[in-house]
Amino acid sequence: MNIVEKIKDLKRKRNAVILVHNYQLPEVHEVADYVGDSLGLSIKAAETEADVIVFCGVYFMAETAKIISPEKIVLIPEKTAGCPMADMVTVEALKKKKKEHPNAKVVCYVNTTAEVKALCDISCTSGNAERIAKEALKDVEEVIFVPDKCLGSYVAEKAGREFMLWPGFCPSHVKILPEHVEAQKKKYPNAEVLVHPECTPQVRDVADGVFSTDGMCKYSKKTKVKELIIGTEIGMLYRLQKENPDKKFYPASEFAVCPNMK
Ligand code: 13P
Ligand code: SF4
Repeated sequence: MNIVEKIKDLKRKRNAVILVHNYQLPEVHEVADYVGDSLGLSIKAAETEADVIVFCGVYFMAETAKIISPEKIVLIPEKTAGCPMADMVTVEALKKKKKEHPNAKVVCYVNTTAEVKALCDISCTSGNAERIAKEALKDVEEVIFVPDKCLGSYVAEKAGREFMLWPGFCPSHVKILPEHVEAQKKKYPNAEVLVHPECTPQVRDVADGVFSTDGMCKYSKKTKVKELIIGTEIGMLYRLQKENPDKKFYPASEFAVCPNMK
């Protein structure tokens, strides 16, 4: 048996499901039952009837699956695969901030540890943050948003309000600079630019659209444009190219690599 057959065989025997984040390597996509963004993967983790969830992503993602489906066994192939952004907010620091603003609601990006989530009122992903800000937070005066200042500023802007932003960021996405995007636009003048909300506001300003990774997939299928410049972790290009063989995808920056995801 080759390795793919072995994985499939083991999956049947253990009644397991393999959930894979969009940024994973191509060979991991190929053994997946489902490939998606943080929101889609969380929904799958809640819905699955499997006994075992194999979560190919970073630690907070597997941990979130366990929070959602506590009766299931959740396995992560590499347990040292953390998310540096998630580690930028600690329990102690958040407790202190909450004390300073006792009336504030705390919204956390799903990219946080379980201990930090336990101190928060709402957890969101890049795929539903805007809706949450406009609906669930519409009557809330003070909001502390952790840990991503880039996503937080984007969502606040969309909802036409202010959040207290935690100074966290994604080290992979902030490597994408506006000048990288401008250089690609010069090279591919007919291309549309899609970027992730973890990119800086300066990068968002030179983009045509801001999307979660699944949002990028949906938009890429829909658009009539044949060339797209993608501002997110470069693993994203594999799925986009596979699903849209008639279109061409270019990375906004070759530097946007998340070693933890890999
Ligand atoms: P989404 O796939 O939910 O857009 O998130 C991107 C990311 O950086 C996950 O860590
Ligand atoms: Fe964390 Fe950024 Fe890697 Fe996502 S891409 S896991 S936010 S470091």
